[in-house]
Amino acid sequence: MKFFIDTANLDQIKEAEALGVLDGVTTNPSLMAKEGITGHDNILKHYIDICEAVEGDVSAEVISTDLEGMIREGEALAALHPQIVVKIPMIEDGVKALKYFADQGIKTNCTLVFSVGQALLAAKAGATYVSPFIGRLDDVSTDGLDLIEDIRLIYDNYGFETQILAASVRHTMHVINCAKIGADVMTGPLSSIKGLLNHPLTDIGLAKFLADFKKGN
Ligand code: E4P
Repeated sequence: MKFFIDTANLDQIKEAEALGVLDGVTTNPSLMAKEGITGHDNILKHYIDICEAVEGDVSAEVISTDLEGMIREGEALAALHPQIVVKIPMIEDGVKALKYFADQGIKTNCTLVFSVGQALLAAKAGATYVSPFIGRLDDVSTDGLDLIEDIRLIYDNYGFETQILAASVRHTMHVINCAKIGADVMTGPLSSIKGLLNHPLTDIGLAKFLADFKKGN
């Protein structure tokens, strides 16, 4: 299972990378704005900074909603750095753009996916990644993990190569349950990755080992 971090915060990206378990980064316009990264040139520069801070795929989202605009923007984003994956929304022209980029050999991440039907279309169009937003489904009293399970079943039925990127992950149990189901990738905040470290028995056990060592020395 690949671990992506879902942020545009360079310090957090570097902290996750330093842990040695990071496989990539996802961003979106809201995450960029949260870091105060605004303006076309600043945003493009920030994508390059992120690519230089990590090994692995870095999703960069288009803002256009028409096919021509998505192609223009996506090609410019892909030309920025070899690690860039063009993030395309699940809308009608988005499906066409996914197919266009697949034919060009440009990696894509189909975002804002909330149903199996949408995930099936993304796979048919040749998306590299499909991003079902599990946290946002949970927010509206719908189990996001059920969606991951259904997509896994359908993709396995037909051998689709599109990778299931569980997105909108909020906490460690999302990560663990996605791993049980067989999501290919999860993207979440730093806390959802570092939280996997924690167990009180580890802390208690370590304190006891160190105390016992001191007794004998
Ligand atoms: C991922 O690609 C999405 O941008 C992200 O996971 C959305 O997460 P949120 O629902 O916590 O905003």
